[in-house]
Amino acid sequence: MFDIEKFNGPFIAGLMLLFGILEAFGGLYKNSKRTKDDWWIEIMSFVHASTVSKPMIVLITTFLMLQFFPQLENNYSHISLWYSLPLIMLVEDFIQYWYHRKAHEWKWLWNLHRPHHSSPEMGVLVTFRENIFYVILIPNIWFLAVMTYLGFGIAVAWSLALKYIVIVGAHSDARWDSWLYEHKYLHPLAWIIERTISTPATHFAHHGKSAKDGISNPNGNFSNLFFFWDILFGTALITRQYPLEFGIENDPKDHWSAHLYWPIIKSDKPNSDIGNGFKREKTTLKTPLRATVEPDKLYWWCSCGYSADQPFCDGAHNGSKMKPIKMQFDTAKKVSWCTCKLTKTPPFCDGAHKEIA
Ligand code: FES
Repeated sequence: MFDIEKFNGPFIAGLMLLFGILEAFGGLYKNSKRTKDDWWIEIMSFVHASTVSKPMIVLITTFLMLQFFPQLENNYSHISLWYSLPLIMLVEDFIQYWYHRKAHEWKWLWNLHRPHHSSPEMGVLVTFRENIFYVILIPNIWFLAVMTYLGFGIAVAWSLALKYIVIVGAHSDARWDSWLYEHKYLHPLAWIIERTISTPATHFAHHGKSAKDGISNPNGNFSNLFFFWDILFGTALITRQYPLEFGIENDPKDHWSAHLYWPIIKSDKPNSDIGNGFKREKTTLKTPLRATVEPDKLYWWCSCGYSADQPFCDGAHNGSKMKPIKMQFDTAKKVSWCTCKLTKTPPFCDGAHKEIA
């Protein structure tokens, strides 16, 4: 009988190979922007995840469950796959949406998640590109390990196989969804697909370097398998376009070992978030900046107060809930940009800086 549990590993490896070959034919590796460090991060992440982190989670979970809940081992194996599979897929993906979202909002977790976003281009290997502690802390892997112990092993194996088709496809530069946008008669189908699962267009937007291009959504599109979480929680951006630039704004280009093993190994780059003793300083000022704005030009006002390019955003808000405020003007005029960030009428000065001692 077909054993999905045994078939899972080779299936995921085959999937990576298939998308990798498509990417190679598309010329990704011939004109690659990846540095030697990028390759090391990706290869080592893949090896760690498949041989150390994930097997370790399964072993620890099984050990703990046997200690505390021995009577529950395989207790639910009689439950039909028709019930268990959709339920496991939904719960597991919901947990991952929030873990991933928090990785963009909590600084320490962002530092662990940075390697996933430091790649200057997309590709199948980006799927696994993570700091080892980020993987160990992924709560949905622990959830799946518990489900396997309880007897849902087959549902877990199917859920992983289906999930990897979507997430490897969403990271791959093969861009399987592009044909959906090329033909108008396919747009209703595209509308359904892009709201249901992650596509290259929506997930590439998440990896885009900056929202300033109007396509990228680095502070949103957090979904993994099901994209409707982003729709539901108001973090979705669907443009049917792909960003031209990927990575982190003002990336200090940390060594691969710091990316993978922070906080044990720190970066030697003095201005890196994962550098030794580095702490971002506020760059707020006590006087507004009066300047003439150009019509139709997009301005991104820094709301976090850490940009080195005040009053505008330079990406320093990464790893926080703060986002820049987008402004566009119809006509050229003089405005007073707030630089103290205390204004009640952002992005413009309301005199709040006068309260600063
Ligand atoms: S640097 Fe982007 S909001 Fe401050």
